[in-house]
Amino acid sequence: MKFINLCPFACDLCKNAVILGALSGLLLHHGFFIKGEWHLLAPTVAVAHLCAFGGIACFSWMLAEPSHNFAIAFLLITSYFATLTSSIITYWVSFHRLRKFPGPRLAQVSKLWHVWKARHSRNYSVLQNLHSRYGDFVHTGPSEVTVFHPDVFMAIDGPRSSCIKAEWYDLLHPQMALVTARDKGTHANRRRQWNQGFSAKALEQYEAKFRVHIEHLEVCVAGDAQGGKLPQDPRRVPDVAHYLMEDARASANHSSWLTGDSILAVVAGSEPTVVVLVGIFRELGRNPTHAARIYQETRGVDLSDPRALLRDCRYLEAVITEALRLYPVLPTGGLRKTAAEGLAIGGVYILNYKSCI
Ligand code: HEM
Repeated sequence: MKFINLCPFACDLCKNAVILGALSGLLLHHGFFIKGEWHLLAPTVAVAHLCAFGGIACFSWMLAEPSHNFAIAFLLITSYFATLTSSIITYWVSFHRLRKFPGPRLAQVSKLWHVWKARHSRNYSVLQNLHSRYGDFVHTGPSEVTVFHPDVFMAIDGPRSSCIKAEWYDLLHPQMALVTARDKGTHANRRRQWNQGFSAKALEQYEAKFRVHIEHLEVCVAGDAQGGKLPQDPRRVPDVAHYLMEDARASANHSSWLTGDSILAVVAGSEPTVVVLVGIFRELGRNPTHAARIYQETRGVDLSDPRALLRDCRYLEAVITEALRLYPVLPTGGLRKTAAEGLAIGGVYILNYKSCI
């Protein structure tokens, strides 16, 4: 280890390596990483770093005095990482424009703080505690504010909102789905395919189709099931799946939508309804007088006719609406990102290109 005697990391080359590493870290942060979105490029960025550092290490090993050169390479890489990390942390803690919002210190620096806190799948209670401690606007991630103010719903999801879906919605990437489409134009185009399966005419046809199964269910409940066989339905009604498959057949580029939208149809068409039904039955179990009132109201009404239900069962409708309020299917999540003009919620201005929950 000759170089240690001659160079206790203080020769000009070592000093220059430290300076070069620090400058590269600052340049990368302020020239690139500080702008735009990087989450989809994370694997590419990691591989590019590994290749660059591997290349530097190999090159230094091949030169004369490999151990000294290796030390220089080590200093260069360490200085780069240390400067990049401290530059990012300093920016978030001292200069980032969301720093005026209160919140846990560590959440300002990394979203991993929140991930750790929500590790037992009780994010709602983590957020409730943050709300009690910090108020209606809480800084919950480096570039994220969680808003508890009631105006948030119209502000981020109302018809005139300019917000787009936040980075979280890239979770199916590279597959695409209607609900995860972040670009408004792309979403509107895809929505046209879905709408064909949910037009008034299509819903009427489904109704006729389901009626056969409802009648069969009634027979089953009455104890007269015919070997559990489902009745054959002579009607062939094109449904959402039909339109989505037609679209995928028409254009090879659209096949990546088919997988994502199939996941969406299965999840969106089952889970939210289950959550609301469980909520309704829980509340009715705790308050049997409401159950009795619904029973009285629905007696004599044709339950398989949605129009009759809507017209004659106002109490049942109120119970469903209240269950939707008490048991939201998305109690947390649904992140939105503010547009170029930022966003005002309850008199508080949130800057542009920031996420709100
Ligand atoms: C009580 C029942 C339901 C509730 C409370 C509910 C709630 C929601 C919510 C909150 C979203 C927005 C999700 C987000 O932005 O991340 C959504 C989207 C969606 N839901 Fe439902 N849902 C219900 C039933 C259904 C059913 C039965 C279907 C049938 C397939 C369905 C299909 C969809 C679709 C396709 C989307 C995406 C719409 C778009 O992005 O344009 N939902 N739902």
